[in-house]
Amino acid sequence: MTTVFSTTSLYEDQADRLRAAGHRLSLPESVGPIGREDLLRGVSDAEALVCLLTDRIDEEALSAGRSLKVVANVAVGYENIDIEAARELGILVTNTPDVLTEATADLTFALLLAAARRITEADQAVREGRFPVWSLDQPLLGMDVRGKTLGVVGMGRIGAAVARRGRLGFGMRILYHNRTRNEAAKCELDAEYVSFDRLLADSDFISVHVPKTAETHHLFDADAFARMKSTAILINAARGSVVDEAALADALEASVIAGAGLDVYEDEPTVHPKLLGLTERVVLAPHLGSATRETRHRMVELAVDNVLAVLGGRAPITPVN
Ligand code: DGY
Repeated sequence: MTTVFSTTSLYEDQADRLRAAGHRLSLPESVGPIGREDLLRGVSDAEALVCLLTDRIDEEALSAGRSLKVVANVAVGYENIDIEAARELGILVTNTPDVLTEATADLTFALLLAAARRITEADQAVREGRFPVWSLDQPLLGMDVRGKTLGVVGMGRIGAAVARRGRLGFGMRILYHNRTRNEAAKCELDAEYVSFDRLLADSDFISVHVPKTAETHHLFDADAFARMKSTAILINAARGSVVDEAALADALEASVIAGAGLDVYEDEPTVHPKLLGLTERVVLAPHLGSATRETRHRMVELAVDNVLAVLGGRAPITPVN
């Protein structure tokens, strides 16, 4: 009998699919983030590993899985896995693209709207009995979204889904910067490919959708903020490392830019203390991009599909190596 080790408990129907295919599902003894020893022990007799973005699947962990054929990450990102080591060891790695695109784009747009219309500040004011008097110049004035310019950095699946919301839902002009031009986005959304500099200078809202790589590390630093409009709002629901958090906090404090909506951080779950103190047009979420019941279920389902395919001698559905 083949063993599938999962670092987290799976939805019962998905666990049943593994068992129905004749596999033994093994889980860590304790709940919560898996400890290193449990991980190494768990993979040691497993043919398949189902894991999360928060699990460090490095060369040591991969080598500990002496019979490991596939690592199915329940995430679209896979920077937690040493892909090179997996390739050398002949282990397939899979991820969960597409199924989380719309949920992540929704969350991105929710951050954009919340920062622009100051929803978290407004919520706090109402709860604390500071219901502002209706006046033309009341303290919680926000900014229009409709008709503004949205700059998308990284026009992949999620970037395009955000641009679609901006264009079709809010009549926004779409600028984008990407490694390659996205002709479909041009046709569908009239999205204009621009240099990074021009995107910084011309956008009212900038939404980040690039992966965590050496090239994207601190793409948004003090210099980038200085080149943005002072009225601009930065949204990051991609990866924390793309934004220099300390520089962002300084830029917000000094009104170099107007606001930010963040779902991801450089050192999760730690958030830069200065950011925590900033509330005006600053909205912070705890990495919720894909966090809907339906989406999380689809992510697990796709990870299980990948495991079943590989253990059944078929090609994985969404391979990354
Ligand atoms: C992913 O899938 O990479 C997301 O960040 C997890 O929510």
